[in-house]
Amino acid sequence: MAISVKAFGTLPDGRTADLYTLTNAGGASVSITNYGGILVSIVVPDRDGKPGDVLLGCKTVTDYLPNDGYLGALIGRIGNRVNRGHCVLNGREIQLNCNSGAHHLHGGNSGFNEKLWEAEALDAENALKLRCFSPDGEENYPGNLSVTVTYSWNDQNELGIHYQAVSDQDTMVNLTNHAYFNIDGEGAGVIDDQIITIRADAFTPTDETLIPTGEIRDVSGTVFDLRKPTRLGDGLAKTQQDDQLRAGGGYDQNFCLNGEGYREVASVYSPATGRVLTVLTDQPGIQLYTGNSLGGNMPGKCGNCYGKREALCLETQTYPDAINHANFPGCVLRAGETYDHLTTYRFSVQ
Ligand code: BGC
Repeated sequence: MAISVKAFGTLPDGRTADLYTLTNAGGASVSITNYGGILVSIVVPDRDGKPGDVLLGCKTVTDYLPNDGYLGALIGRIGNRVNRGHCVLNGREIQLNCNSGAHHLHGGNSGFNEKLWEAEALDAENALKLRCFSPDGEENYPGNLSVTVTYSWNDQNELGIHYQAVSDQDTMVNLTNHAYFNIDGEGAGVIDDQIITIRADAFTPTDETLIPTGEIRDVSGTVFDLRKPTRLGDGLAKTQQDDQLRAGGGYDQNFCLNGEGYREVASVYSPATGRVLTVLTDQPGIQLYTGNSLGGNMPGKCGNCYGKREALCLETQTYPDAINHANFPGCVLRAGETYDHLTTYRFSVQ
């Protein structure tokens, strides 16, 4: 196991970003930059042992600046949407900055994806500890929030993401990572032939602006029933007929995960390369997003710009707009308490 570091480019304000690469005993590696805590690459073998990079990303920090879809970034304070950026906490009205139509998305105008995080390589654990500070009032969130995210990479090709945060006032937190996976390799084309499984009996339908209605709907008989392995293209083919898929231009929904505690919640398998991605988390929800808005304005590592549906995201989280729905798992972090969640992305072959 080894951690190496090299320069990853200069930000417009003159600060420099680094790229850390964590390599395991099998030679598989994960690269992370401290700019936005962005996961830049994940190189893992296919069923013939041939290594390939299964994560969308860019060659330098500069290429990330147009921010087409939060590629690989850490997201906060609140991942996903808050309806019109408005909520009430402890009887006080809060108006968060709105940056996605009328709504607040992924932390607002300048989220954690744009912070230069303080990085500490933990050689013994083959891990990278990232820290950032979000001052009271940032994007109109209450409380000074200290955030730590630890990425770890073990010999079983498991990428752990351990999220921790503490605030000096009651606030709202829903941290996630916006990794775009294509287990056939970044730049390998659309993900239609990949097979997905999500252990969720229900999902949270949205209005046409992707705000949950508050309903928790049974997946039975819908394109959201992914409890058995399902070819993604089969659901995506119904995008125009299904009002839920149509709103997002493909899958862009939160699934209410079965069970509680740290457990296996989802997997993706590619018949072409034999790669399997398995997701484990202690979170109640996961957003399946099939890269519907990838628009091709960021040059990818493969040399081309990534297009629509050339990857998928499985963002572990509490439910979107949780702060405005009493029947959803919450997102309030009380002063002095520790927000603490673990998600693992495991890569194997079949
Ligand atoms: C959201 C999408 C959004 C994408 C990129 C996803 O987490 O669910 O609606 O387009 O992020 O911002």
